[in-house]
Amino acid sequence: MAELRDKFNRTIDYMRISVTDRCNLRCVYCMPYDGLRLIEHKEILSYEEIVRIVRIASGLGVRKIRITGGEPLARKDITSLTSSIKDIPRIEDLSITTNGILLEKYAEKLIESGVDRVNVSLDSLRTERFKEITRGGDINVVLRGIETARKSGLLPVKINMIPIRGLNGDEIKDFARITLNSDYHVRFIEFMPFGSRGFWSADKYIPRDEIKAIVETLGTLTPVRVRKNGPSKYFRLKDAQGVIGFISAITHHFCEECNRLRLTSNGKLKPCLFSETEIDLKPALRGGAPDNEIERLLRLAIEIKPERHNISDRSDLNIFQAMSQIGG
Ligand code: GTP
Ligand code: 5AD
Ligand code: SF4
Repeated sequence: MAELRDKFNRTIDYMRISVTDRCNLRCVYCMPYDGLRLIEHKEILSYEEIVRIVRIASGLGVRKIRITGGEPLARKDITSLTSSIKDIPRIEDLSITTNGILLEKYAEKLIESGVDRVNVSLDSLRTERFKEITRGGDINVVLRGIETARKSGLLPVKINMIPIRGLNGDEIKDFARITLNSDYHVRFIEFMPFGSRGFWSADKYIPRDEIKAIVETLGTLTPVRVRKNGPSKYFRLKDAQGVIGFISAITHHFCEECNRLRLTSNGKLKPCLFSETEIDLKPALRGGAPDNEIERLLRLAIEIKPERHNISDRSDLNIFQAMSQIGG
């Protein structure tokens, strides 16, 4: 079977596809209050174009697809995309990262369309604070969405929490406790310098070791092996049903294990989350290029994949695109 390796001998088998840069929330760390300048509709890849790219990528060795946004469930008729992707024989794992607002409504449809699992962003368990962080979101809607996803079998349901000093850093223990009596994967993510202009600062992000030390006040963390796709390192509190993950791109980068390529909603391949170099597939897609030309561009993106990111060495942080434009 085809296997795609980059210059640093990493197997590339995972593609993250952002299907929209629009979002139905406005999280303070991600978007400015009045939103971002959005990509025009005609510039956004159609579902047919995305499916074609996935089909060609699957021929090269891509086996796992994650749909991201903006908010992917906010794009019209998203399950027609997920079911077409799932129909591609070599795709083994199809997942979505969502803010959960539309999850209660979509969980059943997602599973019927072939989605295997979901990751849900949730940055506070407190009603008022959740509303502030998301600028208006209703936490009960998201909690019902998460529960519906679990009951529908979109497993494991992973909860992504970004601890930010002065915002929600005091909720780390509350999130960790979720795993004691339920089988969610709760993941703590180091806050990366993306998004809302000027929001990120070095004193706001909480390094992994500090987060972990706070979790460990609840008990010992034992490393666990879970079927792994990505950057998270997993542990379990004693007798807990769920697991706790740490994603620490800043203090312990995991670039040597990177298995992924990214596609933005307007058709740019990003070899790395932090890449400023992108390969635009749209001219080829819309100019009638044959499959082997798209394949060549995919290979090129992998060829220029950097060995590692260098954000820790940079002083010009906060210059990047918003996460909603890249898909995380
Ligand atoms: P699975 O392991 O497939 O469940 O997905 P994931 O954890 O990679 O995806 P998710 O969309 O839930 O992302 C969780 C966090 O990891 C987000 O903050 C992403 O931005 C971050 N992340 C995902 N992939 C990378 C990567 O390649 N590099 C870096 N630095 N961060 C990443
Ligand atoms: N740093 C780390 N993670 C981020 N996300 C959004 N912005 C950032 C950031 N600056 C996360 C979201 C979502 C995932 C796709 O990326 O919370 O779970
Ligand atoms: Fe890979 Fe870039 Fe992420 Fe590092 S930062 S793990 S090289 S995508």
